[in-house]
Order: sequence, then structure tokens, then C-alpha cells
Amino acid sequence: MRLRGEACIGAASVLSLAALLCLIFMHVGQINPYSVPRDVSMVKVNMSGYGQGLYEALDVPIEGLYTNDSGAPLQQQAGLRQFYRFGLYSYCAYIDDTHGTCSNISAANRFEPFTVITADMLSNYSSYTDSILESITFTDSSYLGEFSNGAYYLLIIGTVCAALALFIGICKHPIAFLLSTLFSIIGSVTLLIGATIWTVIIKKTESINEVVIEASSNPVPLGITVTIGDGLYLAWAAFALLIASILPYMISCCTYRG
Ligand SMILES: *[C@@H]1O[C@H](CO)[C@@H](O)[C@H](O)[C@H]1NC(C)=O
Ligand SMILES: *[C@@H]1O[C@H](CO)[C@@H](O)[C@H](O)[C@H]1NC(C)=O
Repeated sequence: MRLRGEACIGAASVLSLAALLCLIFMHVGQINPYSVPRDVSMVKVNMSGYGQGLYEALDVPIEGLYTNDSGAPLQQQAGLRQFYRFGLYSYCAYIDDTHGTCSNISAANRFEPFTVITADMLSNYSSYTDSILESITFTDSSYLGEFSNGAYYLLIIGTVCAALALFIGICKHPIAFLLSTLFSIIGSVTLLIGATIWTVIIKKTESINEVVIEASSNPVPLGITVTIGDGLYLAWAAFALLIASILPYMISCCTYRG
């Protein structure tokens, strides 16, 4: 009996620790372009094909759309970057796989890809872009901003709950296990809702991947591709781990007698 109690406590702690680690990686993604978690982001936007898309749409040579300077300032019409990755606190813009620059860090950074991407273009290209892309989710910065901002707070609550479940559960006491059970339940629910909101807004934003330009003869792709980043998968993994920790915390709470 006692051995089973210890095994439950151990399993619950390992699960909530793993959930917390996933969430920490999700949070630190895109804070610094040169750090290890550089590849972790909530959503990725690939702009590399857009020059070709614009060329097909306008039928004029496209010059000066992109910049080759990885350190060029963001949102100052300094030129488009090939890849944009959005995290929870900032976003980074890369000219290739590894070189890029990141925005200032702010909590609850809003996911407003259209605003930040068009702000990098020269004004003639941003006005063309405005006219080509009418009302699709990608351009709806207020909708994306509101929902990503709300989801951020849910993910933060989920992270705090996972940490509390882990650290309180270390004090081996029935009351501590009761609290850990409660925190892992609350954390699972908030992570579920936060990750769902992100999944929905990214899925809706991905409608831009299908946009084509009706050029003279045959339609050509617009050249903007949105994909889910690893940060969202980490959020879902954390949810799964935290929900799995509820039962062992609950069993420990009911059976542990010191
Ligand atoms: C970005 O998109 C272009 C075409 O639009 C594609 O060829 C390229 O493989 C994509 N790159 C990445 C890293 O997804
Ligand atoms: C980032 O912060 C610096 C210094 O605080 C400021 O000068 C700059 O305008 C900010 N950049 C953006 C894009 O907000």
C-alpha cells in the first residue's frame, strides 16, 4: 500500500514537472534569435514566395521587397524578411534559417501578422498587399490580436498552476496532494482552452495558404504560407501531461498517510 502511494506521488511529480518544462520552452520561444529555443514559436509565416506572387499579380519587376540585412529594424519599411515566427512575448523575422532580428519583448504580445509584416514593406508594396488581400483572417489583426492576447493569460494561468501542483505536491501531506489535484485540474482546463484558441486562430489564418492570384491565364499561389509552430505542440503536450497527473495526485491525496 505504502509502496503504491510512493509510486503515485512519483508519477504525479514527474508528469507535472514534464508539463512545466514544456510550458517553459513554449514561453521562451522567439525571445532571442540566437538562443537555443529559436525554433520554438506558436506560429510561422513563410513569406519567401510572396515576391513571385506579387510579380504575377502586378506584372512589373519587384525590386526592394525583401532585405538581405538580418539586423534591419522591424516595422520601419526596411524590407520584408523571408520568415516570421511569432511567440508569446515577441516575434522574430529571419532572412534565412538562422539570421534574424526580434521585436521588443512584451507580455501578452498580440499575434497581428498582417500589421507587422506590411510595416516592413515599402509603402507601395504594402498598399498593393492591402488591395490583394481583402477580408481573410490573416488580415484581421483586431480579431487575432484579441484572441491571442486572451489565450496568453490562460496559458500563463496554466503554467502557474502546473508549477504550484509540482511544488506543493513535494510536501508529502494529504492536504498538499489535495491542493496539487486542484491545481492540476485548473491548469489542465486553462491550458485546454488556451491551446484550443491558438489552434483555432492558426487554422483560420492558414486559409491564406490557399489564396491564389488570378493572373492572366492560370492562377498562381500568393506565396504566403502559415504553419503551426512547435510552441503550440508543447502547449498541447503540457495539457496532456498535466491532465494525466490529476489521477495520481488524487490517489495520493486519498491514500497517503505519511
Ligand atoms: C517557404 O515557401 C517556399 C515557397 O513559397 C518554399 O519553397 C520553401 O520551402 C518554404 N520554406 C520553409 C522553411 O518552409
Ligand atoms: C523597442 O524598444 C526601443 C527602446 O526601448 C525603442 O526605441 C523601439 O522603438 C522599440 N521598438 C518597437 C518596434 O517598438
